[in-house]
Amino acid sequence: MSEGVYADSGLFVCFEGGEGGGKSTQSRLLHDWLVEQGRTVLLTREPGGTEVGQELRRIVLSPETGELSHRTEALLYAADKAEHVDRVILPALARDEVVITDRYVDSALAYQGAGRDLVVSEVEQVNRWATGDLRPHVTVVLDLAPQAGLGRFTERDRIEAAGMEFHQRVRQGFLDLAAADPDHYLVLDARGTIEEIAAAVRARVQQALEER
Ligand code: TMP
Repeated sequence: MSEGVYADSGLFVCFEGGEGGGKSTQSRLLHDWLVEQGRTVLLTREPGGTEVGQELRRIVLSPETGELSHRTEALLYAADKAEHVDRVILPALARDEVVITDRYVDSALAYQGAGRDLVVSEVEQVNRWATGDLRPHVTVVLDLAPQAGLGRFTERDRIEAAGMEFHQRVRQGFLDLAAADPDHYLVLDARGTIEEIAAAVRARVQQALEER
């Protein structure tokens, strides 16, 4: 697999991790902080960062969908990413904006690759192809034991309902990705306070902006 493609303009930041780790809160706080500094920032998410993506999100997450072949699930998530990269992420980076996404390719590698019974390298190939192998400049992993993260939900969607062992494999999947490429990852314990985590994220993103 190639080393990946990094955009020459803009900054691409991604939040990853299991369920209930505070990704959405932290994405929003980072967005607000960057806007206060006068930056143009696009805050987006997967699945569902485009109109087609919202349809795909409904299909993959709705309990009404019921059982899906794991390959179908992987392809639906990959289709969401292809649309998101081509129509939203790349244009914003070309305009030199900061793009913050709540989940990206690592979620597919962890959930469909490590979590489901699919061959990880095949899931990776599909997702690298779908995204033109575009990689984030910084990925923040908010790490949390699934017992703690899933405890916060009473109603579970298709993925949340997949069982504790599945979610353990997902957690380990994210940690393995981060360990293999420490320059591009910041792993934070999601049990920290919102402000502690936000401060660590801001410091890492500030550093990345200075290095650009
Ligand atoms: P969330 O954005 O509310 O966390 O919900 C997205 C769910 O979809 C979450 O359970 C993780 C899962 N997911 C995958 O399984 N594969 C993917 O590629 C992405 C982006 C998300």
